[in-house]
Amino acid sequence: MSTIKEQLIENLIKEDKTSQRKITIVGVGAVGMACAICILMKDLTDELALIDVAEDKLKGEMLDLQHGSLFFHTPKIVSGKDYSVSANSKIIIITAGARQKVGETRLALVQRNVEIMKSVIPALVRHSPDCKMLIVSNPVDILTYVVWKLSGLPVTRVIGSGCNLDSARFRYLIGDKLGIHPSSCHGWIIGEHGDSSVPLWSGVNVAGVALKSLDPKLGTDSEKDHWKNIHQQVVQGAFME
Ligand SMILES: NC(=O)c1ccc[n+]([C@@H]2O[C@H](COP(=O)([O-])OP(=O)(O)OC[C@H]3O[C@@H](n4cnc5c(N)ncnc54)[C@H](O)[C@@H]3O)[C@@H](O)[C@H]2O)c1
Repeated sequence: MSTIKEQLIENLIKEDKTSQRKITIVGVGAVGMACAICILMKDLTDELALIDVAEDKLKGEMLDLQHGSLFFHTPKIVSGKDYSVSANSKIIIITAGARQKVGETRLALVQRNVEIMKSVIPALVRHSPDCKMLIVSNPVDILTYVVWKLSGLPVTRVIGSGCNLDSARFRYLIGDKLGIHPSSCHGWIIGEHGDSSVPLWSGVNVAGVALKSLDPKLGTDSEKDHWKNIHQQVVQGAFME
């Protein structure tokens, strides 16, 4: 007796189950799950794989996403502790790791998170030798270098999030101070993500108008609107990460 599925669906050719644009996220904490939701809502993948050492949490997060499938177009969401679940990924996002504690610098995190990278990167590359890796775990710039070395991948395939978040925070805070949407406020933070980052005050502009042309002291201690505090807020924002 054939099953309901067999009666309903007749495969005329062998089903191709190979994903064309698989994404794996390693670490399903706050950042990993924010990435997962964005990827699903933007329809960026045909298979999403989640990996974490915390098995109960991993299963719960996977089930939540699977049960929300009605609202996404991604047909396959899988998870596992075993790295084989990531096989054939095009992109692997690394968010696994310890968080920064209040008062702790990113650099203090480095040893703990380097050990985690040593335990995850070789297996990931073995299962997805053609992948590109996006590194988010902190200290992100150092770990990106470590992952590049551990992975053996070409330099163009290991990308750190760098100061993207810092620059986004910077633009939000500029917009908040001026009552303008951040998309119209332009500015960049460069250097290492976090404590030692550098705001480029000369480049800060709103719709092309350089704020430094309105006040040459912008961002300095002697400037009366205290724009310099915005950069401090960007750096402090890191402790919420
Ligand atoms: N680059 C940035 O702009 C940026 C922004 C925010 C957070 N971060 C960093 O991202 C990382 C994650 O932050 P979070 O808030 O999601 O932390 P979190 O504590 O919520 O999640 C971390 C997850 O990693 C998992 N994990 C730990 N060891 C693992 C391993 N060996 N294999 C697989 N999973 C493992 C934990 O079980 C946990 O689920 C931190 O290092 C944080 O500092 C970076």
